[in-house]
Amino acid sequence: MYNNYNLVLGENAIVPLIDGRKVRYVNLDNAATTPAFKKVVEDLLDFLPYYSSIHRGMGYKSQVSTKLYDDGRKVVAKFVGADLNNSSVIFVKNTTEAINKLSNMLYNKYKDDIILSTEMEHHSNDLPWRKFKLEHVKIDNHGKLCLNDLEERLKKHGGKVKLVAVTGASNVTGYKNDIHYIARIAHKYGAKILVDGAQLVPHAPVNVKAIDSEEHIDYLVFSAHKMYAPFGIGVLIGAKDELENLPPDYSGGGTVDVVTLDSVKWLHTPEKDESGSPNVVGVVALTSAIKTLDKLGMKNIEEYENRLLKHAIRSLQRVKGLNMYCSDCNKNVSIITFNVDGMYHETVAKILSYEFGIGVRSGCFCAHPYIQRLLNISEEEVKKISKLAGSRPGMVRISFGIYNTLEEVDYFVYAIKKIISNKESYLKKYKN
Ligand code: ALA
Repeated sequence: MYNNYNLVLGENAIVPLIDGRKVRYVNLDNAATTPAFKKVVEDLLDFLPYYSSIHRGMGYKSQVSTKLYDDGRKVVAKFVGADLNNSSVIFVKNTTEAINKLSNMLYNKYKDDIILSTEMEHHSNDLPWRKFKLEHVKIDNHGKLCLNDLEERLKKHGGKVKLVAVTGASNVTGYKNDIHYIARIAHKYGAKILVDGAQLVPHAPVNVKAIDSEEHIDYLVFSAHKMYAPFGIGVLIGAKDELENLPPDYSGGGTVDVVTLDSVKWLHTPEKDESGSPNVVGVVALTSAIKTLDKLGMKNIEEYENRLLKHAIRSLQRVKGLNMYCSDCNKNVSIITFNVDGMYHETVAKILSYEFGIGVRSGCFCAHPYIQRLLNISEEEVKKISKLAGSRPGMVRISFGIYNTLEEVDYFVYAIKKIISNKESYLKKYKN
């Protein structure tokens, strides 16, 4: 299989260890953010001499910048199968902003109705919905979404549920939801579906399907910084018919057709939904990243990362004293969370960094309710713990990108085995 190792900037970065040695950094924290594709940076360097105002100038550079920005919507739409005749591609900062924007825009329309989120969401797809009448669809003991619970809630509320907000893939377990099946159920009961694609879009093919399909994804959100284009851009793709009739959540320059001292005529979506000077640099970066991802092929990327995932899971299953929380590696994006018996998650992450030069994340990954369920922590215990300073429950997470290699997985497994076999001396050295 191909080695995509040299696709990204920093693949050879050398970092210091605690004992003064220097090693090549191994980045296993791609679910948090990915390094930039080299091609993205090259394309930005080509573009930046032509960088200028967009939608606001007649100069040649403004025209170049405006064209690249507007064409970016077409590239994004094509990447996820969206039809710009019925979907609006709105550029935002990131997934969190996309969901907050949508929730603000929908508030007046749906404040007396019901929104369903789930117990496995990132806070960004839970907290913005809490101003509505919100219910959380349950998960089972393996961390998977209970589709029966989803359907029962939709049925019980008889048309009052307006939106099902669900993650495409969990940032904790990597578990992928069957978004098209969920869309079918939601639509059957008159609800729309929003998919948080932050962890899905960079790792697997995603197609929102035609608007007349019962499996159509009405809203899709994702972030470029998790797809090799970390320049402050994200996307909200959504139902044009609905967005067109909602006032913008942010008003200001770029959103209006005509303003008088006592009236405003808004532009159409997406322009009315992007106030202020838009981030054309971010859009050029995202466009470039999408072209590289397309060239590699999302199916190939999914298969390659799944090989890394399976290899890691198989190797870690043989390590005594380590517990993994992922449920089914055939259905997951390339994320593994685990704990080492008798070691605090943050200590494990610290040792991996300080002693081995491996970057991982630890903690609750902005998904407290999901972590509490997976770790079997009751509401009472959470309340007690939250009053105490210091250690909090959590896990260690590794997550792969397209440029990671089987050798890096082996190095990580070697490091974990070393940590476990020298646990006592490491614990003495890294007292919490
Ligand atoms: N949501 C990102 C993560 O899971 C930041 O790490």
